[in-house]
Amino acid sequence: MSGVAHGGDTDTGAGLKAGLAGLFDRSAPTYERVGVEHFADLGRRLVAHAGMSAGQRVLDAGCGTGAALVPAALAVGAEGEAVGVDLSPGMVARARAEVDRLGLSHARAVVGDAETVTGLDGVPTAPGSFDTVLAGISLFFFPRPRAAVARYRELLRPGGRLAVSWWGPQDPRWEPVFAASAPYGTAGSSHRLPEDSPFRSVEALHGVLTGAGFTGAETVEEDCVTRFADAEHWWRWVWSTAARGFWESVPEERRQEAVAAVNRELFRLQAPDGSLTSSVRVRFTVARRA
Ligand SMILES: C[S@@+](CC[C@H](N)C(=O)[O-])C[C@H]1O[C@@H](n2cnc3c(N)ncnc32)[C@H](O)[C@@H]1O
Repeated sequence: MSGVAHGGDTDTGAGLKAGLAGLFDRSAPTYERVGVEHFADLGRRLVAHAGMSAGQRVLDAGCGTGAALVPAALAVGAEGEAVGVDLSPGMVARARAEVDRLGLSHARAVVGDAETVTGLDGVPTAPGSFDTVLAGISLFFFPRPRAAVARYRELLRPGGRLAVSWWGPQDPRWEPVFAASAPYGTAGSSHRLPEDSPFRSVEALHGVLTGAGFTGAETVEEDCVTRFADAEHWWRWVWSTAARGFWESVPEERRQEAVAAVNRELFRLQAPDGSLTSSVRVRFTVARRA
């Protein structure tokens, strides 16, 4: 999946964060609403890997529409507490609507920066406030992921867990699709990370976690398979995700040509019934605060 990418810890990234908030606000109305379950499945898997129990307090960093926040709230139960933080007011509004619909009064979502987690209304900031911190398909968007990890160490109680999901290798069959679009846009991709990104390898992320005071980091890699009825369905999905950022960066006058180039490659991937299946490896990394 494409999107805005970075990963170094060079500055506070205020401009990048404002851009991300806008990008996800534009995705929010259709995110996870185009007829494929993608992030909800990954959110449930992240919560299962994190291994939470009833009564715990959990922070969901970059909670989006609640893909992990909701199953986390269910896992900790009414005697626990689940707090989601996200830059995008549109995503937060969706998460709030979902926790309200499900009557999860011990869960809430707050607009704010989950990289720093400071000064956010109703978000505990005392050291050791949380039993678990989750970051579902979000941490690699943060301009300073190392600073975020250090902050989560402060916010976790000793022995508390940080659980992060992030992309592993793309399905090589889809490489020609991304290669066909690449010359037309300028936005980055979350599969093409800078040299110093902790998300370039499992070892790199484990090293960052250990350096920040976490212990026992383990990463499990699983397939995430998504099936689309046809190419048009795939396009609707692309525009519902951060990948729309790439397509927004394609100049209007080149869009038609770029879409045609991609459609040629999609055609080669289609099954006889016209459907498309994409597969990406997803990594679930869990570490304990030492
Ligand atoms: C791909 S979505 C994943 C959302 C959700 N965790 C899920 O699994 O569906 C990434 C989310 O991270 C949020 N995000 C990116 N940078 C952030 C930051 N610095 N603070 C809070 N949220 C951030 C975006 O607004 C977006 O909602």
